[in-house]
Amino acid sequence: MRIYCEKDYNAMSRRAAAIIAAQVVSKPDCVLGLATGSTPIGAYQQLVKWYQQGDLSFAQVRSVNLDEYVGLAPTHDQSYRYFMQHNLFDHVDIVPENTNVPSGLAPDAGLECARYEDVVKALGYADLQLLGLGRNGHIGFNEPCDHFPVATHLVDLTQSTIEANARFFASADDVPKQALTMGIGTIMRARSILVVASGADKADAVAKTVAGPVTPEVPASILQLHPNVTIIGDEAALSGLK
Ligand code: GLP
Repeated sequence: MRIYCEKDYNAMSRRAAAIIAAQVVSKPDCVLGLATGSTPIGAYQQLVKWYQQGDLSFAQVRSVNLDEYVGLAPTHDQSYRYFMQHNLFDHVDIVPENTNVPSGLAPDAGLECARYEDVVKALGYADLQLLGLGRNGHIGFNEPCDHFPVATHLVDLTQSTIEANARFFASADDVPKQALTMGIGTIMRARSILVVASGADKADAVAKTVAGPVTPEVPASILQLHPNVTIIGDEAALSGLK
């Protein structure tokens, strides 16, 4: 694992954006695995800036997102499809048909998971997968459990995740209780993985990801077994590392 400690959120975001931009420049038709949550927003803003300056093009990029809430329409302002449109896709030249997010409205979640896994597989999996970290060490929506789920699947969100994400909804009751997420196997097939973490509330998850035992109780700990992982954190998020 390569670990970069940046002084604050802006520096973290800029370095993350630089690594994503380097991927796009070196392979213009790459498959980007994209993430939601508040942490990657600064990196997306930087990518939009470079696109607007004419320094970066997403015209040939294909994208696959990690996850989506069950029951939220793409137009719902807390859906992850909406997040991606609003924070990145609407502001760059990515071709809409080349962007993929699981559908939270599919009548049969199992079928949608199988369809989505096939989409990611047909694209050859991600060249670069961006990940945020849940406070409990979840990646995508792979919550702590007794095994590492392999493929895209339906999950029941833990109370800790529902509470952490309640800040984006009117109340915790409005947070969807289920989500569709790429599996740990789907994520681990990415050729490279970039984790971003910011703030003291991620310090414990970062420490366990980097230096704890590899266990499905901390899903991100499996990244220790991936050959090409970069973690970029600000000082607060990395404060639990020696
Ligand atoms: C959600 C997403 C994760 C994200 C996590 C952390 O649970 N499914 O992909 O990493 O939130 O979000 P934040 O960056 O807002 O702390």
